[in-house]
Amino acid sequence: MKDLLKEEEKLFLRTYKRIPINISHGDGVHLIAKDGTRYLDFIGGLGVNALGHAHPGITEAINKQTAKFSHLSNYFITDIQLEFTTKLLKYSNMSKVFLTNSGAETVEAAIKGIRRLKGSEGEIFSLTNSFHGRTYGALSLTDRKEYKKGFEPLLPKISTIKFNDEEDLQKKINEKTAAVFVEFLQGESGVKLISTLFVKLLTELKQKYNFAIVADCIQSGVGRTGKPFAFNHFEFMPDIILIAKSIGGGLPLGAMLTKSEFNESFSYGSHGTTFGGNPVSCAAGLIVLEEVFENGLMKNAEELGNYFKNELVELKKLFPDKMKEIRGLGFMIGVEMNDNCTLLIEKLMKKNVLATCTNKNVLRLLPPLITTKNDIDFFLYNFHEVLKQI
Ligand SMILES: Cc1ncc(COP(=O)(O)O)c(C=O)c1O
Repeated sequence: MKDLLKEEEKLFLRTYKRIPINISHGDGVHLIAKDGTRYLDFIGGLGVNALGHAHPGITEAINKQTAKFSHLSNYFITDIQLEFTTKLLKYSNMSKVFLTNSGAETVEAAIKGIRRLKGSEGEIFSLTNSFHGRTYGALSLTDRKEYKKGFEPLLPKISTIKFNDEEDLQKKINEKTAAVFVEFLQGESGVKLISTLFVKLLTELKQKYNFAIVADCIQSGVGRTGKPFAFNHFEFMPDIILIAKSIGGGLPLGAMLTKSEFNESFSYGSHGTTFGGNPVSCAAGLIVLEEVFENGLMKNAEELGNYFKNELVELKKLFPDKMKEIRGLGFMIGVEMNDNCTLLIEKLMKKNVLATCTNKNVLRLLPPLITTKNDIDFFLYNFHEVLKQI
């Protein structure tokens, strides 16, 4: 592996700090290294691998679609795109779609749609500590100094409202507000849930000022939290839903889903993408929708997510000096530690468990939605062992 990392250093621009494991292949919730070590994968492709690795349904759908055509250009509409979109709109209760390749590209589509519909003077807000992606529009919404450093100037007329601060929300929203982008369950910031009071005030202000609320469910969507989208945990419906990550079953796919009033946001030629809505990605996406919404995976995330969280709360009682707080919904769980969790991650890896650390001290767990109770118990046993060591 050392050699691989050295080769990378020679060839790649330095953007990712890689995990020093040489992966051979995946198998469900496991990743198998070239030396034969089998790892429980609770990184889950950072929320992408909802159906785990090498899912037979996805493999079959991809092969079938590739044998027909893998790409046509968006001059054509295809059966598979229609089939996928019909199901997606049904489960999201939205009326229109724009298909993309990634999270950031989906965020960009929403910013452009809003600017065009609401005018260039409109103010767009996101919430503090939010993460919406790395392209210029998405980065302008992202409230992380370290990600923005050196890249200014960013987009104008974009600023932040303090997360869960009703006073700040009330102060900043007015007739000039065009949109508010919200991660109802923030991922990168350390798995933090928006408060009911904040959502209630946001809804009241929307009724008064008629701005758009965009739910960024790129990480928290498609059943991961035990409901279709994170905002479904509140009595709330946004104007626009953004999804990506898990929807393509490991292939690049994203979607901006809108209410009918956004029909006017684009006209022919005003926006587009070469690969967005790729037929092979849509074929995989259709399997994801079937497995999550029709074959019980969302229920699995809800039930086993509750079990997982409760067990972590019990574990915290044994290690109150090390574990600070357990947060999250379904299979999107954050364990805030009292110290930086880099060492914890390394020790877990030695016990064949993969997880990541976000915002320095939050262990972020994004198990595939196919995860079983046995997998969770394996994690809990090894996490307990590591907590005894650190
Ligand atoms: C909430 C949220 N929005 C947007 C993005 C950007 O997605 P992508 O990396 O596919 O561009 C991410 C990625 O982590 C995310 O978690």
